[in-house]
Amino acid sequence: MSSNSRRYHITTFGCQMNKADSERMGGILEQMGFQFSEDPNDAEVILYNTCTIRDNAEQKVYSYLGRQAKRKREQPNLTLIVAGCVAQQEGETLLRRVPELDLVLGPQHANRLEDLLEQVFAGNQVVATEPIHIMEDITKPRRESRVTAWVNVIYGCNERCTYCVVPSVRGVEQSRTPEAIRAEMESLGRQGYKEVTLLGQNIDAYGRDLPGSTPEGRHLHTFTDLLYFVHDVPGIERIRFATSHPRYFTERLIRACQELPKVCEHFHIPFQSGDNQVLKAMSRGYTHEKYRRIIDTIRRYMPDAAISADAIVGFPGETEEQFQNTLQLVADIGFDRLNTAAYSPRPNTPAALWDNQLSEEVKRDRLARLNHLVEVNAASRSQRYLDRIEEVLVEDQNPKNPSQVMGRTRGNNLTFFTGDINHLKGQIVPVKITQVRAFSLTGEPIQVPQPALT
Ligand code: SAH
Ligand code: SF4
Ligand code: F3S
Repeated sequence: MSSNSRRYHITTFGCQMNKADSERMGGILEQMGFQFSEDPNDAEVILYNTCTIRDNAEQKVYSYLGRQAKRKREQPNLTLIVAGCVAQQEGETLLRRVPELDLVLGPQHANRLEDLLEQVFAGNQVVATEPIHIMEDITKPRRESRVTAWVNVIYGCNERCTYCVVPSVRGVEQSRTPEAIRAEMESLGRQGYKEVTLLGQNIDAYGRDLPGSTPEGRHLHTFTDLLYFVHDVPGIERIRFATSHPRYFTERLIRACQELPKVCEHFHIPFQSGDNQVLKAMSRGYTHEKYRRIIDTIRRYMPDAAISADAIVGFPGETEEQFQNTLQLVADIGFDRLNTAAYSPRPNTPAALWDNQLSEEVKRDRLARLNHLVEVNAASRSQRYLDRIEEVLVEDQNPKNPSQVMGRTRGNNLTFFTGDINHLKGQIVPVKITQVRAFSLTGEPIQVPQPALT
């Protein structure tokens, strides 16, 4: 069979980093002549880009893999690939567990997929998990959206949060150069993309590893400098970024966000816990007071900024009182969105070895109580949008109602309104908000842009 008729499938688990990596790996496969297949059962090359942030994420992968391994026993010409964070964590062990696998590649090797696959097609079973310098990728990613795009700015993480597997699976921090980032954004602008989300596990660490620092030791390329460097890329109308770390978050960054019109007023700053002792045990490097000061400062500059975060309940040793401090912080801040999770012990992390683990029952109960509060909060935060005019960047049709389109406000609220996707896709439309729900809005366009004259 010629490679032109061969199909590939990618399923992506986990965070935006993985989504961005998958888009690049998809681009590489297409350049090699493969075509995308939605259904893994119609594909000859099957790639799972995996996540191991919590145990349930990891286990999900094994059940998917099991099915394809079975299929491969009947169809030996299939190529089975595991990429991403489980691949990095397990390495060779994965081959023992699933001998049908052809290729195991860690996140740092995503851009090398073509090379690695050639070794596979030459008859080898390949494991690529050694730490390497991440090369710039010249292939065009196969992006999910034609309106919004991810752009990596820094890979890896040098923090050592005691619960977190990311540093051990994503490796040390590696910043891309400002020039490479700007060039990618310029190319996106030329292709008609309107919004870019700059990505890093700890985006505030951007530039620390790049050469060039002042005599006082301050590095020249901070994330804030990067925003000033890229904000005027033609065609790109909105810039977002994630994830911010409270330990390194600066007022200078807040000022840049206020000053630069394309940078959206939305901050994703995980706090993890509202209790200082728990924060210390997590090695987060800040107190809840510092976190509150950051949010106060943001709101001083931009009273209406949307704030989202991540939080963990049931960290080893967390008492009911300490958990109450998390609830208190959530109630006081009033988050627009909050990702919550019960603590899950992870391989190669210190907290997993401590003997003060909480029962699943306690964790589940706390998670449910926190989630309830989050929903109540988000519903009341949404109220402020009622009757307001918000700019919505239209991304798609509403899958549940084809007469509607959907997109996001600058604050990242999912918003629906009546309209035709064929002429609204990629447009920024002023929409009067008429209905608010905890996690989405509905409105009416107040001025429908004319179809483009092309
Ligand atoms: N770099 C980001 C988060 C990356 S992981 C940061 O520093 O905040 C995404 C989220 O998963 C984390 O914010 C945390 O809330 C959650 N998480 C990470 N490890 C976890 C674990 N072992 N158990 C439960 N949740 C976890
Ligand atoms: Fe994990 Fe902490 Fe790094 Fe975030 S900053 S990825 S939580 S180690
Ligand atoms: Fe998961 Fe890896 Fe992201 S563990 S959350 S896919 S960095």
